[in-house]
Amino acid sequence: MKKIALTGIKPTGVPHIGNYLGAIKPALELSQKCEARYFIADYHALNSCKDPDEIRSMTLEIAAAWLACGLDPEQVLFYRQSDVPQTFELLTVLLAFTPKGLMNRAHAYKAMLKSNAEAGKDPDDGVNMGLYTYPVLMAADILLFDTDLVPVGNDQFQHVEMAADIAQSFNHIYQQQAFKLPQALAHDTVKTVVGLDGRKMSKSYGNIIPLFAPEKKLRKLVMKIVTNSQSVEEPKDPESCSVFALYKCFAEPAQVEELRAKYIAGGMGWGYAKQKLFEQMNAVLTPYRERYEELMDDPGYIQQVLREGSAKARELAAAKISQIRRIIGIE
Ligand code: ADP
Ligand code: TRP
Repeated sequence: MKKIALTGIKPTGVPHIGNYLGAIKPALELSQKCEARYFIADYHALNSCKDPDEIRSMTLEIAAAWLACGLDPEQVLFYRQSDVPQTFELLTVLLAFTPKGLMNRAHAYKAMLKSNAEAGKDPDDGVNMGLYTYPVLMAADILLFDTDLVPVGNDQFQHVEMAADIAQSFNHIYQQQAFKLPQALAHDTVKTVVGLDGRKMSKSYGNIIPLFAPEKKLRKLVMKIVTNSQSVEEPKDPESCSVFALYKCFAEPAQVEELRAKYIAGGMGWGYAKQKLFEQMNAVLTPYRERYEELMDDPGYIQQVLREGSAKARELAAAKISQIRRIIGIE
């Protein structure tokens, strides 16, 4: 029996190459080995985004991004969280098994309290109950589908551990293995992808290269990557250079060695290294960008894929929720 891998993708912000290399690509590789269930976590986005057009368009864009990167809906169950109402019934059930103290310990909530304290505001300023109970909704997403593995970034590990805690408490009270205990799986990423300013590429730092940036924009962004002020003649250190770090993410080992030699030898300007990086990124990303543009021209197709996936997901979810209802005495 194949293991079940499940992950949620929030429809917020344009996907960047950090997301691609750090999350999308490894999750698609994992889907070759596991029974994969990947979904758009639109109700998770509602906690922070109250713009209906934004939620609508980002849902389409994120779905198109995954499809363009190679998600095969025949192989991966691909659906929209909001189309699986059993999620929200399970959320209500799980709330009754979640100690309030567990939520108080969530990193994201604690970070809000801290920043409020620093700003001299009320501790709960800007904290809605959706944000406070975010880990329980995530537990519902995970436990509803008998998930074994949850591929996520490190920032989400605590949430997966909480899902396992909640499952364990339920199983203990009813003395049966009603829920599987999920395990977080670190994305098999080589390392953190750096952004234009040399820090981790992240929406919150405004230093991203969008995955589907048109060719001209891509070139412009690559030319903006921060380098030092060394002259053309000077030998350069590849290991401390963001241009080189990104090149390694896109080029073949032999190409990487060739560029490394040019850095060390001197006589190479930053313009040359950036041009090489642009050409390599553009070559790798062009097919994805083309597929993405085709998909975005046909939103009806994307919606159909999500509708079909959601219908299958609802079947699995209905069976699980009826099992849980029987256990708790509501059916
Ligand atoms: P952002 O930091 O831009 O808000 P998210 O937190 O939405 O990105 O990222 C979703 C996932 O993409 C993360 O859990 C992580 O696995 C991956 N990811 C994001 N940024 C990077 C990066 N710079 N390098 C590697 N992986 C990344
Ligand atoms: N909280 C995750 C994030 O911010 C998204 C998410 C929602 C998720 N539900 C999930 C991830 C279930 C894994 C499993 O990235």
